[in-house]
Amino acid sequence: MTVGTKTQVKHEAIKPMIGSRILNSKDELLSGDLGDEIRELLEQNGVLVFPEINFTDAEQIAFTKTLGTYAPERQGDDEEVTKISIDPKVSGPTAEYLRGSLYWHIDGTMQEVPILASILACKKPSPKGTGNTGFSNTYAAYEGLPQEEKDRIADLKVRHGIWASLFFYRPEPPLDMLKAMQAIGDKELPLVWSHESGRKSLVIGNTAHTVVGMDVMESRLLLNELREWATKEDYTYTHEWTAGDLVIWDNTGTMHRAEHYDVESGRLMVRTKLQGEEPFA
Ligand SMILES: [Fe+2]
Repeated sequence: MTVGTKTQVKHEAIKPMIGSRILNSKDELLSGDLGDEIRELLEQNGVLVFPEINFTDAEQIAFTKTLGTYAPERQGDDEEVTKISIDPKVSGPTAEYLRGSLYWHIDGTMQEVPILASILACKKPSPKGTGNTGFSNTYAAYEGLPQEEKDRIADLKVRHGIWASLFFYRPEPPLDMLKAMQAIGDKELPLVWSHESGRKSLVIGNTAHTVVGMDVMESRLLLNELREWATKEDYTYTHEWTAGDLVIWDNTGTMHRAEHYDVESGRLMVRTKLQGEEPFA
C-alpha cells in the first residue's frame, strides 16, 4: 500500500521580522497544494522570495491563482502580466507615474479594498547595486512601537492622495499635472489598520499627506517619524534581483519601494496581483 505524502512548503527565514525564502520546485508550486500554507507564511513574514524560479508569464498567472483571486490591472483587462519599467519606451505614459514607486508606499490607498498582494518577477535586472526593491513590515513596526505611542496614534485618521506622491519626484509640478493627479481622489484612512485577524499595521507611505486634526508641521512630523520607525533595519528587507526571481509581498502589512536605477538600464519586471479581501478599517 502506498501512503501519499503531502507536499509541504520548504522555507527558510531571511530576517527574524521580515522575509522568507521558499525553496519548492516549480511543479510543487504550480500543483496548487501549497496555496493555503504560502498565504499563511505571507501574512507572517510580509515578503516571500522564490529565488530563480523562472516562471513563464502563463505560469506566474497560474501560480497567482493558487493563492487567491487574480486581480486584473484594470477592470475588464484580460488576464496577463503587467510590464513594470520606468522607461517610457516600455511602459508608455505610466512610466512617469511609476517614479512615485521609488518612495515608500502601500499600493491602492485610493481603493475601498486595496490589493492583497503583488507578485513581481524579474525578467531583466538593472546593474548590481541599483534597482533593488525594499520592503518594510508594517505589522512588526506597529507591534514594536512603545505602548504610549500606540495609545497616541490609536484613533488618528490620515488623508491620502496619489497627488501627494507627486511632490516626492516633482517638487514643483506643472498645474495640469497636479490637477490630473488630484482628480484621482483623496481619501481618509485610519493610521492604524485593525485587521479582521486581530493584528494591527500602520497605514503610511508617500500618499499620506495630512493627519486629520493636525496642522502641516505636526502632520509631517508624525508621518515622517512613523516612516523612519517602520523602515528601520529590523523591519526591512531589501531584495537584490537576479533574473528569474519572483517575490510576493503582503500589500496589507508591508510598504515597498524600488531603489534608483538608470532609465536606460533595461530593467524589466512583470507583475500580477491578488484581489484584496478586506477594506482599510
Ligand atoms: Fe507599488
